[in-house]
This record gives sequence, C-alpha cells and structure tokens, in this order.
Amino acid sequence: MKKILITGGAGFIGSHVVRLFVNKYPKYQIYNLDALTYAGNLFNLKDVENSPNYHFIKADIVDGEKMMQLFGQYEFDSVIHLAAESHVDRSITNPMEFIMTNIVGTVNLLNAANHHWKSDFEGKRFYHISTDEVYGSLGATGFFTESTSYDPHSPYSASKASSDHLVRAYHDTYRLPMVISNCSNNYGPNQFPEKLIPLFINNIRNNKPLPVYGKGENIRDWLYVVDHARAIDVIFHKGSDGQTYNIGGHNEWTNIDLIKLMCKVMDEKLIRAEGTSEKLISYVKDRAGHDLRYAIDSTKLQRELGWIPSLQFEEGIRLTIDWYLNNQVWLDEVTSGNYLKYYEKQYEER
Ligand code: NAD
Ligand code: DAU
Repeated sequence: MKKILITGGAGFIGSHVVRLFVNKYPKYQIYNLDALTYAGNLFNLKDVENSPNYHFIKADIVDGEKMMQLFGQYEFDSVIHLAAESHVDRSITNPMEFIMTNIVGTVNLLNAANHHWKSDFEGKRFYHISTDEVYGSLGATGFFTESTSYDPHSPYSASKASSDHLVRAYHDTYRLPMVISNCSNNYGPNQFPEKLIPLFINNIRNNKPLPVYGKGENIRDWLYVVDHARAIDVIFHKGSDGQTYNIGGHNEWTNIDLIKLMCKVMDEKLIRAEGTSEKLISYVKDRAGHDLRYAIDSTKLQRELGWIPSLQFEEGIRLTIDWYLNNQVWLDEVTSGNYLKYYEKQYEER
C-alpha cells in the first residue's frame, strides 16, 4: 500500500493526475495537498472527492514547518510534486510569488522528504513535475532533449529551472530517490482561463477580442492533459532513479494557426457563420522575453518506458472545446471575482 502526496492536485494537470491515481490504484492512499490559490479549484475533483482512498489537505508548501509536520503525521512514501505558480505573464508582473512557491516551496518538500526518509530510502520516490520552458527557446529547427542545456528566460521558467537543479542536488548530495519530467504545453478540461486555449474559447463564446501577442508566430508543442497524466503514471512506476524524461506531443502549432483552427471549430459549435470568430482576433503588444519555439523530443520516454500520446490534436481540441461549452458554469465561476480584476490589469496596458 502506497501513501502518495500529490501537491497542486486541485489545479489543471494535478486534478487529472489525482483522478487517474485514485481510480486506477484503489489500494494507494492519495493525499492531495493544495493551497487553493486562484488556480486551485476543488470543483475539478468532485467526481473522486468521496473515494475512500482520496484525502485533501489544505496547506501552503512555502510553510516549511508544516511540510515537516505533515510528512511525520501521514508517513508519505512518495511525492508527485505539481504545486507551482504556472503562468508566465503573472511571473513577469509578480516574480516573488514564483520564487517563493516554485523554489522555496520545492526545497521545503525536499527537506521534509529527506528528513523522514533518510534512514531508509527503499521504496521512496520524489517525482518533480517540470516544464520544457527550462530549456529556453528554439529556432526554426531542432528539439529539446534531456541533455539540452538549461536557458530559461522568464521568472517562471527560471524558478522551475532552479527547482529542477535543487531536486537533482538532493539526489546527488543526499541520495534522495527522485525522478523529473519536463513536459510541453498541456491543453484540455479544467485549465484556468488565463492560458491561451481556455482564454480564447471563453472570449469567443462571449464575443470578446482575442489578444494575440506580437504577430502570433510563436510555436508551441501541444499535448492533451490526460496523456500527460498517463506519462506521469508510467514514469512514477517505471522511471529509473535520478533520471529525467521529456514529455511532448510532436504537435507543433504557430499560435495564429491554432487560434484560427479554434475559431473555425467554435463557429461550427456555436452555429455561427464561418469567419465570425476570426473577426475577434486583435494583435496586441508582445509578451516580454517571449520564447519563439518549444518542441520536445520524447524518444527516451517512448523507447524506454513505452509511452505514446493517445490522442490526435484535431480530436483533442474538439473534445476540449466541447468540455468548456458543456461546463459554462465552471467557466463563469472561475472568471468572476478576483480573476476578473487580474484579467483587467493584465490587458489594460496592451
Ligand atoms: P495550475 O496553475 O493550474 O495549478 C497549480 C496548483 O498548485 C493549483 O491548484 C494551486 O492552488 C496550487 N498551488 C500554487 N501555489 C501553491 C502553494 N504555495 N502551496 C500549495 N499549493 C499551491 O498549474 P498546472 O498548469 O496544472 O501545472 C502544474 C505543474 O505542471 C506545474 O509545476 C507546472 O510548472 C507544470 N507544467 C505545466 C504545463 C502546462 O502546460 N500547464 C506544462 C508542463 C509543466
Ligand atoms: O511549455 C510548457 C508551459 O506551457 C508551462 O510550463 C506553463 O505553465 C504553461 O502556462 C505554458 O506556458 P506558455 O507561456 O507557452 O502558455 P500560454 O498559454 O500562456 O501561452 C501560449 C502561447 O500563446 C504563448 O506563445 C503566448 C501566447 N498568448 C498567450 C496568451 C495568454 C497570446 O498570444 N495571447 C494570450 O492572451
């Protein structure tokens, strides 16, 4: 019987990971620890909240004493660490929250795990979930591999790079058993509508402008969130100690092509004349330090652990749009109150 601490389980990716583990492994005890920031929403987990192997702990990973106490109290034997500040634009306006949660919070978890596990590392694992943004930006060709040098550009990616280094340092210094994965852009249900895809779906349904940064030429490699959760399951169980695995969809889109595809599908779904949604496109000032292109080479994960994405993008984006249109109450709830204030501040200068 495993006792797994999943941090950030009320967020976008974390909620899919919690659901998968709770349902697939009834003998594991799953502890979802989340501070419920603006991005954490327990409504994402309504379907599993009464499962006997699911437990919720409201706590902030920046509180080191609390992390130490919780490890003693619950005797976790594994950690899947997703809790983070995750939005690049927010990191540009408020870097300190990213330093505190992504760096200090990660070190607090490492200290607590190391302290409670060091007498016997057998059967223990600290799995740190990271991003392809630590590798920086690609030109027109090439892919990020596990040996690409780190070259982060935003406070967000620099804080994630820092946390990756610290996880490796605890492995090399204290022998803390660990594994890291670096994933490309995720999309799918339950993503907070500040990120490109849910933000634009929400704006299209409300006939609001679609703020395209710069010329819309930046390229991202999109992966369906459930496929990321499946990869996390495989790496958690089969990944080798001390290793890093890249996860990606081999699915590159320029922002503008992706936005035009979303406009086309939304016109169909909302029974609007073809071309209606595209008229909402509005080119705005570019993001500072905007990385041009991300693209992941996930050969190692595919060859060594046998993971491949299950969903083609055209199918995934339709499923995603359907989910948001069928869950407009969820969208309305998260786009009210504090989020709206953030949204207005974010775009008032563009
Ligand atoms: P998210 O912003 O949707 O969720 C983050 C969760 O962490 C929220 O539930 C929030 O309440 C919680 N949290 C934040 N600060 C906390 C703190 N101090 N203590 C406890 N909980 C806290 O993020 P996401 O998009 O689901 O990303 C999850 C992880 O995956 C992050 O580590 C991110 O860097 C990484 N990642 C994300 C993507 C992506 O495309 N979204 C891609 C690759 C890697
Ligand atoms: O690559 C993995 C990363 O993907 C994760 O680590 C991050 O947590 C996640 O937020 C995501 O980062 P991006 O910056 O790539 O995602 P975002 O959805 O913010 O932006 C995607 C692209 O769309 C990017 O080139 C910026 C652009 N964009 C974004 C927004 C919010 C716009 O043109 N307009 C917008 O309003």
